[in-house]
Amino acid sequence: MKYNILGQTDLRVSQLGFGCGSIGGLLVRGEYPTMRQAVSRALELGVNYFDTAPIYGNGQSEVNLGAVMRELRAEALIGTKVRLTGKDVGRIGEAITRSVEGSLRRLGRETVDLIQLHNRIGLSWQPEKDPDRIGLPDLDIVIGVFKTLQQQGKVRFWGITGLGESDALRQAVGRGGFQAIQVAYNLLNPSAGTTVFPGFPFQDYGQIIDRAAQQGMGVIAIRILAGGALSGATERHPVASTSVNPIASEQEYSADVARARRYSFLVEKGIVSDLVEAAVRFVVSKPGVSTALLGISSLNQLEKAVQYVERGPLPADALENIRAAGSRPE
Ligand SMILES: NC(=O)c1ccc[n+]([C@@H]2O[C@H](COP(=O)([O-])OP(=O)(O)OC[C@H]3O[C@@H](n4cnc5c(N)ncnc54)[C@H](OP(=O)(O)O)[C@@H]3O)[C@@H](O)[C@H]2O)c1
Repeated sequence: MKYNILGQTDLRVSQLGFGCGSIGGLLVRGEYPTMRQAVSRALELGVNYFDTAPIYGNGQSEVNLGAVMRELRAEALIGTKVRLTGKDVGRIGEAITRSVEGSLRRLGRETVDLIQLHNRIGLSWQPEKDPDRIGLPDLDIVIGVFKTLQQQGKVRFWGITGLGESDALRQAVGRGGFQAIQVAYNLLNPSAGTTVFPGFPFQDYGQIIDRAAQQGMGVIAIRILAGGALSGATERHPVASTSVNPIASEQEYSADVARARRYSFLVEKGIVSDLVEAAVRFVVSKPGVSTALLGISSLNQLEKAVQYVERGPLPADALENIRAAGSRPE
């Protein structure tokens, strides 16, 4: 396993990170012994970064991750998040502090390595229209609260989620003040890491990975398998979420699965063994990505992903062909 320093922090994160979210579902709905086995194996394989959030299973992901880590006496790095709601307008400090203290209690830790704003970001916060999308001016308050929590020893570093309006995200990255960003980046929507062709059908994230990396921010890639669609199969693992809302790709999961198949040529040409390998190595090929999170449903998925990451970046001509396949009309 290779490691990268997360931006300008002193966190040395594994190239593959363990996603403890609801989509993969293992840390939310799995059997405890299976979770323990997967986390233990991940640590053995060199995975040292685990991403969770209070809303994953309504606190269950943090509770399970904390319990497993304590039982294994592991020294892994843990990132969690805070999501503000419309009710928190005017009392952001109180809401963030309460959320972080809740996370620490559930995780059974005194500090988290990375706290991240879970909200999408827009130019302004209009809670009555879209309570989840907070505005650029609110970020100053958020940073101030994170700094106070750092002084209290409750968090070490902080970041944002790079979802929302592309223009606002570009400005959020440009203004600085955060050490990391979670960015949606995959074969279906690679716009966070490359220019896209005219008429690109999905949100254009305007190479936010490169902008963030130039600013010295750590980049955490999310949705690298488009919630599972990049396996090319619609069937879901029993602990995985039964419904997946695509992020910045097609409207429906099944349409994402269909679009994923345009990359099957990589398997047919023997460049990769399956589409999951193509998707994982595509993200590994992107300079500036510090760690790529994978939502995990089973030990087998973890083992495979580690193998794929270790095969390294895809060859340059395969990346060129991927670009051409992405720009093919529907
Ligand atoms: N900040 C944010 O707003 C945000 C948003 C999204 C995600 N995240 C973070 O990023 C993590 C990953 O994102 P995600 O879970 O949404 O999406 P993802 O990693 O793109 O997809 C996860 C799905 O991929 C499938 N999969 C994984 N390994 C596989 C393998 N080897 N072979 C075949 N299928 C495989 C599984 O589906 P099946 O088991 O059904 O096949 C799993 O449910 C989350 O856990 C979370 O920590 C953060």
